[in-house]
Amino acid sequence: MTTVEEKAKMETNTNQLMEFLEEVSGLSAAQKKRVYKTLVDFGITHPLAFKNRTVKELTRIDGISENVAEKIVEHANPSKKGELLFKSLAEVKKEEDSNIMISTGSKRLDELLGGGISLGTLVEFYGSPQSGKTQLCYTIAANTLLEIGGVLWLDTEGSFRSSRLEQILFYLEEKKKDKIDEKQKEKINSQFNVATVRTLAQLELALQQAEKVITAYDVKLLVVDSLMDIFRAEYGGLGELAERQKHLNVVVHKMMKLADAYNIAVVYTNQVMANPDPFATALDKVQPVGGFVLGHASDIRIWLRRATSATKKKYDAPNARRAMITDCGWLPMEETIFSIGAFGICDVEEESEMKEEISEEK
Ligand SMILES: Nc1ncnc2c1ncn2[C@@H]1O[C@H](COP(=O)(O)OP(=O)(O)O)[C@@H](O)[C@H]1O
Ligand SMILES: [Mg+2]
Repeated sequence: MTTVEEKAKMETNTNQLMEFLEEVSGLSAAQKKRVYKTLVDFGITHPLAFKNRTVKELTRIDGISENVAEKIVEHANPSKKGELLFKSLAEVKKEEDSNIMISTGSKRLDELLGGGISLGTLVEFYGSPQSGKTQLCYTIAANTLLEIGGVLWLDTEGSFRSSRLEQILFYLEEKKKDKIDEKQKEKINSQFNVATVRTLAQLELALQQAEKVITAYDVKLLVVDSLMDIFRAEYGGLGELAERQKHLNVVVHKMMKLADAYNIAVVYTNQVMANPDPFATALDKVQPVGGFVLGHASDIRIWLRRATSATKKKYDAPNARRAMITDCGWLPMEETIFSIGAFGICDVEEESEMKEEISEEK
């Protein structure tokens, strides 16, 4: 249900779209009205949606002609506004430094990632069942809601539980210095939106609808838990592999564009398969599914697995896990440890500490 305040937010968005269209030259008033309605119906409610969109993509929207698409794309083009595409090293550095990071819940894991999950990047967590993928998503989502902005969650496995997110939110709130008031709580509730997707068509529809919600709810994180599940379900045998990869390419490009246009972090989980190569090294014995297409799309790939019994014993952390960066263009292939508790992802030392705290409360 949309509240009045949320509806007003949507309207502010669409007003900006209207203002943008007003400025597009060469379109009649009637054309603008029609184009506006077509775009809003399609799910485009903010001019940011035109960033990175090609004429070809816009013409795929029913009711948008090539002529109109060309005019919109031209108007959204940075060169039109006199913006230079090139940036100096100092400017890039400044931008990178000012980028907001989302905490995973574990200081060690944040450090491994160079400070946390930065907005605008695509992060893949892969591992066998129970390795902590969904728990990471919950904690990252909770930290985003408490510190940064809205969250969209696409649940393909039916594993999302509101009670679990609330539990983690509750503990993280308790840990925070500045307590959250009722109004902020209400805001958090409205800023979290989940879609259950069971088919690829629904996944694509959800990604399309995401644009409507992103600016209205100030979304900073998109979670897809898990990504490859439905691709594997819908494309069965080896004969369909090429088709599957083509389809996957379309979907990951859509996510890349959302990440870039709206500066949101995209976190998705993935399953693993055994590497059939008999010469595979120990590290390559298990691989994320999705092939090269997904490999190229993910900015950071992180492999999750259970920690060794020595680690669990050392820290009295039976839930300890290992996280290893296996592919990233700017971070080394390094590994760290973290843990999972009632309060979500934490450092290994915290698991037993927090357990005591909770039992004392009870
Ligand atoms: N409420 C909870 N309290 C403590 N630990 C939990 C809780 N819920 C889940 N876990 C831990 O998380 C693990 C499951 O991790 P999960 O992220 O769901 O796995 P997957 O990688 O399959 O998504 C469980 O084995 C358990 O150790
Ligand atoms: Mg899971």
